[in-house]
Amino acid sequence: MIAPIDPNTVPKKTLSSGEKIPCIGMGTFGSDRFSGAEIADAVAGAIRCGYRMFDCAAVYGNEDRIGTVFAQAMEEGVVKREELFITSKVWNDMHGRGDVLISCAKTLKDLRLDVVDLFFVHWPFANYHAPGCSGDARNPDSKPFSVERFMDTWRQMENLVDKGLVRYIGMSSMTIPKLDAVLPLCRIKPAAIEMELHPGFQQEALFNYCVERDIQPIGFCPIGSPTRPDRDKTESDVADIELPEVVSIAKAHNVHPAIICLKWAVQRGQIPIPFAVDENFYVSNLRCVTEDPLTDDEMQSLTKADCNCRLIKGQVFLWEHAKGWEDLWDIDGTITK
Ligand SMILES: NC(=O)c1ccc[n+]([C@@H]2O[C@H](COP(=O)([O-])OP(=O)(O)OC[C@H]3O[C@@H](n4cnc5c(N)ncnc54)[C@H](OP(=O)(O)O)[C@@H]3O)[C@@H](O)[C@H]2O)c1
Repeated sequence: MIAPIDPNTVPKKTLSSGEKIPCIGMGTFGSDRFSGAEIADAVAGAIRCGYRMFDCAAVYGNEDRIGTVFAQAMEEGVVKREELFITSKVWNDMHGRGDVLISCAKTLKDLRLDVVDLFFVHWPFANYHAPGCSGDARNPDSKPFSVERFMDTWRQMENLVDKGLVRYIGMSSMTIPKLDAVLPLCRIKPAAIEMELHPGFQQEALFNYCVERDIQPIGFCPIGSPTRPDRDKTESDVADIELPEVVSIAKAHNVHPAIICLKWAVQRGQIPIPFAVDENFYVSNLRCVTEDPLTDDEMQSLTKADCNCRLIKGQVFLWEHAKGWEDLWDIDGTITK
């Protein structure tokens, strides 16, 4: 086994509550390519190598296997529950009244936990797509974003905190217009927001919006999700690990370009949640945030790598009269109806 990393040497980010959490976590979505068993094995290895934060979700279909891994690691004394920071998410088909509690209860049972540390609304719509459906499939029941419907879901999330089933709540794939509309209505503010963040898609305005409000950005697809499902690929997509700025800095540090994406993410201030089942990959992904930081000039050069290339366009969540995936992202600064 590769030498583990002391979790105490992994830098921390401070939530608005004052609690400190790791500056990097591990993703657990296998992009329809890896089995639950392979991902659970990677989580087991990752705990042993020093990861303390894991990004889970009901829709990833592997929480039961990952829960077994968490339970074993705690039984064997590898880690204590309070040392782990575990996130999960309610899927789009469980936003209805009472359903968020049912979803959270299932996640707690599967993950074998008494409490989830941070529970997200996975997407801000109750729009459901069948697993494995094609990119242009549309569900006739899908609807545009509605503040009222979202707040119905958020009230249920707040109740989970009241019941002690989750410690923090968060949102995911939001836009500034949506946040402007819902944040003033929240009794419990989101502790974190998950958003797509990588050198080729830096979302500077949304990132700054969250930081200014003491909401921690968590960056998904931090390496540019090179092996994301085919439904999420288009010809104009840019590969982060091939961006000239990323490649030249990787050469200077003698590391894979993926490592530069992660160093950039942590030094900028988001928490990246890279996925990997390969032990060499997940170990180096954690180790890289403890050594050999990027220089200010390198950080500056990576700012210029932004090409506004959104990879997870979300087209499967569109409603029938929607024009295109841009409608999900409120490009013109107002909520698309
Ligand atoms: N909130 C949301 O809606 C949302 C959406 C998407 C993702 N997420 C979360 O974000 C996590 C990460 O996103 P992602 O899995 O799509 O993309 P990612 O982390 O950007 O890319 C993962 C891929 O990068 C490659 N990789 C990882 N470490 C590497 C290294 N050190 N060197 C070279 N290549 C490396 C691996 O490719 P190979 O497998 O080919 O080796 C791996 O499959 C997910 O697992 C999930 O937890 C959340």
